[in-house]
Amino acid sequence: MLIAVDGPLASGKGTIARALAARFALPHLDTGTLYRAVAVAVLEAGSDPSDASAAEAAARSLDPSQIDEAKIRTAGAGAAASIVSAHPQVRAALKHVQQAFARQPGGAVLDGRDIGTVIAPDADVKLFVTASAEVRASRRWNELVGRGETVALEQVMSQLLERDGRDAARPDAPLLKADDAIELDTTDMDEGEAIRAAIDIVAGRMKP
Ligand code: C5P
Repeated sequence: MLIAVDGPLASGKGTIARALAARFALPHLDTGTLYRAVAVAVLEAGSDPSDASAAEAAARSLDPSQIDEAKIRTAGAGAAASIVSAHPQVRAALKHVQQAFARQPGGAVLDGRDIGTVIAPDADVKLFVTASAEVRASRRWNELVGRGETVALEQVMSQLLERDGRDAARPDAPLLKADDAIELDTTDMDEGEAIRAAIDIVAGRMKP
């Protein structure tokens, strides 16, 4: 079974995707890690994330098995990821890694922005996870502060709106709900409720 989970920043899609993978015993790929790792490589090389050739070179030489979780989870890496991810060359370079993962026998769970629309349009179940900007900003702020970053909630909110805007406005594979995706709004749900709702949707789709 192939499950696509898309949605904006801090909507809960990552948590939901991990829980679905555990519940249905499927491998999981958080595709945001790939774009974040490309962004970190570009920054570490002293290049500008808006430089398409530098970003493409980083994407082509990316080794997904060597991604440093601590480095890619910072707010700076996330912001740069949303810039490198707008380059069509970067998206093309990362497409085959994601599609190879999606095509594993037995299926997989992938989460990102364009899984249901571009990477796996043939997915068996597509979820589009949303939440209000206020709730998402507060979730991300808690996550960053929990990781030891010093950042104001207002700053997280403005970065979130900026990233949402960039992800939705890019011409190549923008953040978009697939026509056949089921929307799951987690604004008023805690983690457990969101996970249960997602499991119910997938289980409902599995019934003959
Ligand atoms: O999901 P996460 O916040 O880790 O993603 C970081 C950035 O990578 C996003 O803001 C988005 O610009 C980009 N991304 C993407 N397509 C995906 C996954 C992430 O463009 N499938």
